[in-house]
This record gives sequence, C-alpha cells and structure tokens, in this order.
Amino acid sequence: MTMQGPFRYRNGTLYCEQVELAAIAAGAGTPCYVYSRASILERFRAYDEALAGLPHMICYAVKANSNQAVLALLAGAGAGFDIVSGGELYRVLRAGAPACRVVFSGVGKTAEEIEYALAEGIHSFNAESEEELRLIDAIAARLGVRARVALRVNPDVPAETHPYVATGRREHKFGVEVARAPEIWRRAAALPNLALEGLSCHIGSQLLDPQPLLAAAAVMLELARTIRRAGFSVRTLDLGGGLGVAYRAEEASPDPAAFARAIREQLAREDLFLILEPGRSIVAQAGVLLTRVLYRKRTGSKEFVVVDAAMNDLIRPALYQSHHEIWPLRQSARPEIIADVVGPVCETGDYLARDRRLANALPGDLLAIATAGAYAFVAASNYNSRPRPPEVLVEGDRWRIVRARETYEDLVRGEAP
Ligand code: LLP
Repeated sequence: MTMQGPFRYRNGTLYCEQVELAAIAAGAGTPCYVYSRASILERFRAYDEALAGLPHMICYAVKANSNQAVLALLAGAGAGFDIVSGGELYRVLRAGAPACRVVFSGVGKTAEEIEYALAEGIHSFNAESEEELRLIDAIAARLGVRARVALRVNPDVPAETHPYVATGRREHKFGVEVARAPEIWRRAAALPNLALEGLSCHIGSQLLDPQPLLAAAAVMLELARTIRRAGFSVRTLDLGGGLGVAYRAEEASPDPAAFARAIREQLAREDLFLILEPGRSIVAQAGVLLTRVLYRKRTGSKEFVVVDAAMNDLIRPALYQSHHEIWPLRQSARPEIIADVVGPVCETGDYLARDRRLANALPGDLLAIATAGAYAFVAASNYNSRPRPPEVLVEGDRWRIVRARETYEDLVRGEAP
C-alpha cells in the first residue's frame, strides 16, 4: 500500500510522525481526528519558499481546517489567511494572527461582518458584486476608513472536479464576468471610501491538474493589463486556492512547490503582489480520522464493517462520493475483504467506503480514514445527537488534544426546554 504524508507503518503498526496512532486512540478515544504539525508546516513552506523573490502572501483558506492550533501554527510560520465569515475572522484573530494578513472572500458577506473586518483592519476584501462594493464603501464611510478591495472575477475556465466544488464558470454564483470587470472597476474606482487594489479569482477545488489554474492566471493577467491600460493601478492578484491532493493510493498528488514555481514564472515581470488561498493542499494529507470497528455483519451478498465514526464526523463520502483510503492501525496476515464501511447514523447514505478492498478488520480493531485533515472536522455536525470528535495535534514524538471531545452537556447548550 502506498502511504502518503506523515503516516507510516513501523513493525506493522501505523505511526503519525513518531507517535503510534493506537496510543492516541487509547488516550483520546475514538472517533478522533489526528493532525501532523510537521506535515502542515512542510506544505505551507513548499508554497512560500517556491515563491521567494516574488512579492506574495500565502493566505491559508481557513474553511479547510479552522482549529486554533492549526491556525496558530500557520500564523507562526508567517501565513496569511483567507476567511469567508465573521466567525473565521474571530478564529484567526483569536489564534494570534494579525488582521493585516487577512483577506475576506465570499459571495454573501453581511453588513455586520464587513464592519467587523473593517474595524479590525484586514488586508482586503474580495468583493463579488457591485452591490457589495457599494455596501463596503458605505460602511467604510461611516467608520471613517478606506476599505482595501479586490474585485473577484470569474475567469470562466473549465476545471475538472466534483460539480459541487467547481466555481469558475459563468453559470456559477461567484465573482463578476470578465467582460464586465473593467466597467465595474471604473465605477468602483469612483467610490470615495474604497481603495481598489486588485483582482481575485478562485476557479474550484480539488484540481489534480494545475493547468486550469495557470489558464485562469493568464486570463486574470490579461484583465489586469486591460484595466491598467484604462489608466488604473492594479497592485494585487489573488489566484485563490484549488490545488488538489491524492485521495486514492494510485493517484499522484500535484506538487505545491512546482505549481507555485509555474505561477512565479508567469508573474515574473508583472509588478503584481501575488496572493494564493490554498486550503486543502496544506492540511488534507496531514490528517486522519481514527475509528474503531464495532461490528461485522453480512446481508445478502454484502459485507459490512460497522465503525464508530459516521457521516456526521466526515461527510465527504456521502456528499461528494469522495474516496478516502482506509488503513488498519495494525497490519495483519488475514486476507483482505471487500466491504462497505458504515457508521451508526440512521441513513443509507452513511458510509465511509463502498465495495472497498480493505483489511479484514474485526470488532475492536482500529482503522484510520486517510486524507482527513481538510473539509472534515470543519463540516462535522451533531446529527443523531453525536458529540463531535476530539482533534489531536502530533508534534514529533508528542501529541496533545487541541479540541476536546464534545459532551452530552455540549449537545443541549443554549437550548431551552
Ligand atoms: N478560496 C476560496 C474563495 C474558496 O472558495 C476556497 C474553497 C478556497 C480558497 C480553498 O480551496 P482549496 O485550496 O481548499 O481547494 N468541502 C469541499 C471543498 C469546498 C471548497 C470551497 N472553497 C470538499 O470537501 O471537497
């Protein structure tokens, strides 16, 4: 089996960095998320170092994994942050990151969120419509500040990914059309409380082929030139996130450093400050979801492995039919089986793997659901009144709980009988 990231077998048992995962399961219980500090840092630095020499800021997309420990780690490494809500701004500031390294994306920012971000002094907004530009201008006027803004444009390039996470075509809700961008820019430039600084785009997520991202960059560069020719200054170019990771053992993961070098070459002579917003490609491979086998059962011709993690903990298979490799914590000589791996939630859609060849795991055995550092815990819910799992950070030969397992008391907090 090809292993990825910081997870390796030693003498038949699975480790994260220098920590045996079974020790974490014993100490923190299951289900439980585990992240590798070294892996997160390595991927962030791959981007950052490949862009050395080009003025840039890597704004980690907080939505991918917003744990305080993860944000503090990245803030310490010099990352900026891409946020899409007031809640994410709060998390980033709470983790000790400076507001001046925050960009605010998203198609539906509320007046309260805009005011909060302006009062904290964020780097810039990626504005998605003329109405939003006018609202930011009005709030900035009231606060007596100038709001730095980039215009989010939809470069209309096809990108192969799951339809739910493709964002860069004309029919999607994100950004303004390329053809209309110069005119919108001209009107926005006349708004007195805006400092219109640049252009932004984000064409989709989980792109295993970086080519569409480079094609989008070319469209954006051309647009920047058009706007400059009209007499305006365009200082920043934000190309969003989107670089994918290998979820299947047989897939190859695109290399963030190689991708960043390609972007650097494209922008080498452009006099632009580059912003990237990678999320998944920094944290996905750094995490696993640990789970314990509860039961084995057979119905008709189907074999089921019933585990204690479920769709409420990791919704990606149910929502996007996404594939996550499943690794046994202890390798065994038993022949592999073909089975569905399912959770306790009362829905047929509650599965983590379907018709999967995997280790012949018996009740009590531990499994790691791979590539679960991104869009996993952040999308967990309490469905079926299941407390959300704890999150653990591994640092070399040590590990610590960076979010406690929720309790039954947490489940009813704020409710009134
Ligand atoms: N910037 C913007 C404006 C975004 O909308 C996104 C992701 C990113 C950056 C980060 O993209 P990344 O580098 O992570 O691909 N829940 C889905 C993914 C949703 C992505 C949404 N936007 C999943 O589990 O696959």
